[in-house]
Amino acid sequence: MCGIVGYVGSRQAQQVILNGLKRLEYRGYDSAGLAVIEKNGEIAVRRAVGKLLNLERTLSSSPLSGNIGIGHTRWATHGKPSQRNAHPHTGMSGRVVLVHNGIVENYTELRSELGVEGVDFTSETDTEVIVQMVERYLEAGYDLQTAMRDTLVQLKGANAVVAMSPDYPDQLICAKLGNAGGITVGVGKDEMFIASDLPAILEHTQQMAFLENGQIALISSNDFHIWDLDGAEVEAEVVTIPWDPISAVKGEYKHFMQKEIFEQPQALIDTLRGRVDFDLHEISIPELDITSERARSIRRMYIIACGSSYYAGQVGKYFVESIARLPVDVAYSSEFRYYHPIIDENTVTLAITQSGETADTLAASEQAKEQGSQLWSIVNVIGSQSMRISDGVIPMQAGPEIGVATTKAFTVSLINQYMLAIILGQLRGTLSPSHKNRLIDDLALVPNLAGRVLERDDDYKHLANQFHKASNFLFIGRGVNYPIAMEGALKLKEISYIHAEGYPAGEMKHGPIALIDEVMPVVAIATADGLYSKMVSQIEQAKARGGVVIALATEGDDQVANIADHVIYVPETPPLLAPAINVIPLQLLSYHIAVRRGCDVDQPRNLAKSVTVE
Ligand code: G6P
Repeated sequence: MCGIVGYVGSRQAQQVILNGLKRLEYRGYDSAGLAVIEKNGEIAVRRAVGKLLNLERTLSSSPLSGNIGIGHTRWATHGKPSQRNAHPHTGMSGRVVLVHNGIVENYTELRSELGVEGVDFTSETDTEVIVQMVERYLEAGYDLQTAMRDTLVQLKGANAVVAMSPDYPDQLICAKLGNAGGITVGVGKDEMFIASDLPAILEHTQQMAFLENGQIALISSNDFHIWDLDGAEVEAEVVTIPWDPISAVKGEYKHFMQKEIFEQPQALIDTLRGRVDFDLHEISIPELDITSERARSIRRMYIIACGSSYYAGQVGKYFVESIARLPVDVAYSSEFRYYHPIIDENTVTLAITQSGETADTLAASEQAKEQGSQLWSIVNVIGSQSMRISDGVIPMQAGPEIGVATTKAFTVSLINQYMLAIILGQLRGTLSPSHKNRLIDDLALVPNLAGRVLERDDDYKHLANQFHKASNFLFIGRGVNYPIAMEGALKLKEISYIHAEGYPAGEMKHGPIALIDEVMPVVAIATADGLYSKMVSQIEQAKARGGVVIALATEGDDQVANIADHVIYVPETPPLLAPAINVIPLQLLSYHIAVRRGCDVDQPRNLAKSVTVE
């Protein structure tokens, strides 16, 4: 979950790393730290608890000077957030300094073995075990690469590390073991970068190489080499990342989340561009690599995902089942393995993950593959682990998403699943040409509809001003909008810390209706579709019990306006695509409520953007 940056070149490492960490603070904000090798050949470290700003203050009163360094933002797993538990960690004799992402599962045993050998620990972290081990190997005469390798082979769990030693003053060493987040090497001109996430170094280079699991890289300012854990050198592949560096900065917006909400029309255009031919009514996603024979052989689909991506998957189930007539189960990745899923070679498992590094989703993906399933993924971060282990990929094309609470990746993943359903429907012969043409024509409307919803931002702000003091919210919807009620509730919870529940509206009478009173707002998604009249009666029932109803309705709908207390109007949208439009006002409502409550929208407490621990 932590953010990692490394630099070696001719610039002052402190500034490059600090700028990189600013782009990565969404990875964790319990503490931050930075180390450089100074001109006197010594390691110098600065660490501060809390947000990066505290580290910046420490560095401005006590700057570091050196052209090679490593930095870290922490999301605490072992050891509470404190200065002594903050990374980077150094070994006992100051010959190695290291930052780490992941969990050393056998750290207790390793720590007691090292304790018996006389190692004094200065922190409660599992990380310190790694650095002490590497240092002991260096002291025993091993070179840096061997010391790292011999340490790594003893670690259990998923771990990514970057380290340096004054014994090798112009080299960084990094390694990746299992799914503990990415390690990317950025190739510059006479300078090199390391990052856990691309936005950290995108302003410097778009030439990147990705470490695979079980690889170690040694990096100097103009060269790098990669080895596997057996010591065999691996050929490094450098690819050009198409992301625009400007898209990873906030610009005129107050928050990344706000910026990303407003980027949705463009992200949707980018999602369709190059894939949908609106004249020929054809959709092609070459990275999916699917044949008609393969599509026809599929008997069942599992969608696995976490958080908002899971709700996106629930919408996807509607798309795939209704368009491609393929049975779909949607599972939380963290629960998937405990379902005893019934999987064989005629199953396809679809992982939805913005980061492509969510540990639970990667573990579930691997399990599905082991059981013989074909693995597809809808993934945003290029080069991520999910992208690499999948048999077929739908790259999201949403651009970098920095706000911890996902927004544009959510809408884009809905559209990707809609396109997937059409492709499958066509190949499986469940979709008539006229139906397919209509579904594709509908798709063309989406970016513009998203733009129209954004134009009403003042309305959402106005509602937020009225409701920001509420302690509880209920979100209800039916059919394809039920997952959107869940997503609306999740957005509100995670950024404003207001308790919120999402519910299928038809289930209200089996419990939640007891909660209704005159202080708890009920957000009812009642846009025009086949379930509209059922939603209207649900709103009536809530009103009959004194509830305060905020209804999401289609422009021109007076019926709902007459019964609800407040109406959020959205433009008329083809019903199957309504989730991608209806979610946007809910994102903005949550955003404005959180801002009004003074919450830290981009970095909500206790959360992290990519959850790389199980
Ligand atoms: C975190 C984020 C959520 C995201 C979830 C799954 O909890 O805060 O916004 O939906 O992880 O992430 P993924 O990268 O797998 O989509």
